[in-house]
Amino acid sequence: MRYLISLDDAVRALASAVDLVGTDEVHHGKRVALMASTFSEHLGWSSERRVLLYRASMLHDCGVSRSQEHHELVAQMEWEGAEEHCIRGHDYLKSVPILQELAPIVRWHHHRWSEMPADLEESVADMANLICMADRMDALRAHYQVTYHPDGINRLMAALRAEKGHLFKSDFVDLAEEVAPREAFWFSLEPDAIEFALDIVPMPRDRRPLSWHDMHCLGVLFARIIDAKSEFTADHSIRVGALSRRLATLLGLSLQSREDVELAGLLHDLGKLRIPDEVLDKKGTLDLGEKRVMTRHAFETYMLLRRLFGDHPIADWAAWHHENLLGTGYPFRRKGAELPIEARIIAVADVFQALLQDRPYRCGKTPDEAVAVLAEIAAKNQIDGEIVRVLAAHLDACVLAATGKSNRHPGPARKTAPFLLAGAPAPLEERPLRTR
Ligand SMILES: [Fe+2]
Ligand SMILES: [Fe+2]
Ligand SMILES: [Fe+2]
Repeated sequence: MRYLISLDDAVRALASAVDLVGTDEVHHGKRVALMASTFSEHLGWSSERRVLLYRASMLHDCGVSRSQEHHELVAQMEWEGAEEHCIRGHDYLKSVPILQELAPIVRWHHHRWSEMPADLEESVADMANLICMADRMDALRAHYQVTYHPDGINRLMAALRAEKGHLFKSDFVDLAEEVAPREAFWFSLEPDAIEFALDIVPMPRDRRPLSWHDMHCLGVLFARIIDAKSEFTADHSIRVGALSRRLATLLGLSLQSREDVELAGLLHDLGKLRIPDEVLDKKGTLDLGEKRVMTRHAFETYMLLRRLFGDHPIADWAAWHHENLLGTGYPFRRKGAELPIEARIIAVADVFQALLQDRPYRCGKTPDEAVAVLAEIAAKNQIDGEIVRVLAAHLDACVLAATGKSNRHPGPARKTAPFLLAGAPAPLEERPLRTR
């Protein structure tokens, strides 16, 4: 069974993930997309241009991974540090062939209309500035509590008017004047209306399934956004993806399974985007409430991926990376045979890669130390001992996959636990091929 995912499905899922950075105020990208789509319909833009604007609006904040940066962006009309996420978002999108066209639009979405570069294509400048206005309207909407205070719309419009011809193109402010009195425009932005309101936006959707290559590029993009969440987790998702694939190959899984395990590895921490920076980077022990917030990330990963991949078990493999064989992991408390080989691989890859990296509360371990820790956990039957044995028997290759660097700690006497050496598996060619 293979999943069939179109570009528009993927953009919507990516938007849901990016929107989690708002922690309590989620759906920002979707609200901006809905507002921008409404305006572009009124402007009579071609459907091709409207589709481009819709996708760029959905992903306009993909350069924002940290909750503090998100907070600054919604708390102020103009913020000095705003350009950084535009450049980051531009660079991310440029690296994915199917999203490349969106990059220049995202690049200029916080730039003042009156100061747009003279050589910028007119259509790009228009789309960027329409996103800019919808984006600021969303920040003001929350600030003036437009939904509950009738005067909020007047205050919001006064703020837009003050920037007519400066921050925003004059025609766009005139259009906002026309649309703002409609209550339905604001009601459709509310949390219980937004998803359906987006479903019925009148515009063509691309339903063609993406190739695995395109899915992989998107997986790497998602992973880069997750990994930018904290300096401590730089490259973590990218490396868990690579190590999971390496282990799947060493364990003899089929090519299709290897590809899907890599994708699940790239996406396993997607739900971390909802964890506030102060919890993720906390140096001391987490209190009970903070632990709960941390535990939730695997559940958020599940929800996002289940929506994207439907019945395909990729969502399970990715979301079960903190489960363990005894059933004492979290948050689903799966155990033993309920955890397929793919989920077990990602769990081992996740722990091993994390052990090699510094964390706010400890230093990174050497590969041998990390293997010793894995062996201890496997001895308690919490993670799969065979996978740990395979990893230890091919340590150099696994360290390369997990860090991008060769094993720099070979030392004269390896400290690898004896049981790992005794039970080392036969080389790949001699092992039976697993179909999954
Ligand atoms: Fe934004
Ligand atoms: Fe995790
Ligand atoms: Fe992780």
